[in-house]
Amino acid sequence: MIQAFNLSKSFNGQPALRQLNLSVAPGEIYALLGANGAGKTTTINLFLHFLEPDEGEARIDGMPVAEDPWTARARIAYIPENIQLYPHLSGIENLAYFSALSGQKYTTAALERFLTQAGLEPEAHRKQARNYSKGMRQKTGIAIALAKEAKAMLLDEPTSGLDPKASNEFARLLTQLSEQGMAVLMATHDLFRAKETATRIGIMRSGQLLQELQPSEIGHTDLESLYLQQMS
Ligand SMILES: Nc1ncnc2c1ncn2[C@@H]1O[C@H](COP(=O)(O)OP(=O)(O)OP(=O)(O)O)[C@@H](O)[C@H]1O
Ligand SMILES: [Mg+2]
Repeated sequence: MIQAFNLSKSFNGQPALRQLNLSVAPGEIYALLGANGAGKTTTINLFLHFLEPDEGEARIDGMPVAEDPWTARARIAYIPENIQLYPHLSGIENLAYFSALSGQKYTTAALERFLTQAGLEPEAHRKQARNYSKGMRQKTGIAIALAKEAKAMLLDEPTSGLDPKASNEFARLLTQLSEQGMAVLMATHDLFRAKETATRIGIMRSGQLLQELQPSEIGHTDLESLYLQQMS
């Protein structure tokens, strides 16, 4: 469960996020849409407690993150736009390393299973991550999330720069994770993917959540017109 209660943040007196109230239940994929500077990354950074809120509270799995950021982060899988892997380590080694950081120790066979489940081709598991494409790095990120047994997943523009096939695969993985009970919050500019993948869509502008909607209620073109209308 991912929850925000009146969450607010300003930078130098300029509000970046205003009184955000949001709740993403296990099994939900919530897509946060909004123009550049709308406050999407700020929202994600507040959930990770990379930023201190001015007001309000962010909770993960019922836990206020400000009270114990490390424990809260242990329950979160975070996928930024560009996943940072150790370039000289292989996919398996990266996964082993990041799992160890979150206190988990897996056999090589188990690590391979996570990578395969995340869609990384077996031939790639032992290749150095420096040779990975963006899609392969994102898949490794998903494997790290799987191994972490996180309750919540936060993604900041995870599919930007992925080709349509990689983006489609990524969306299917997200759906699988949510079906296993993960709560997913994703900031994205990809209206098409949001409509296809999300169970709920939120539209933000200037730090405010203006509207929430169910993708099933609306067509692709309607979503685009609605979005443009909210931005103008
Ligand atoms: N560390 C910071 N210091 C000062 N201002 C910041 C900082 N981080 C964000 N801001 C400001 O807060 C506002 C919200 O930014 P944020 O990065 O959350 O937007 P975003 O919705 O993620 O945009 P984008 O789609 O471009 O990624 C912007 O006006 C931005 O300039
Ligand atoms: Mg951003």
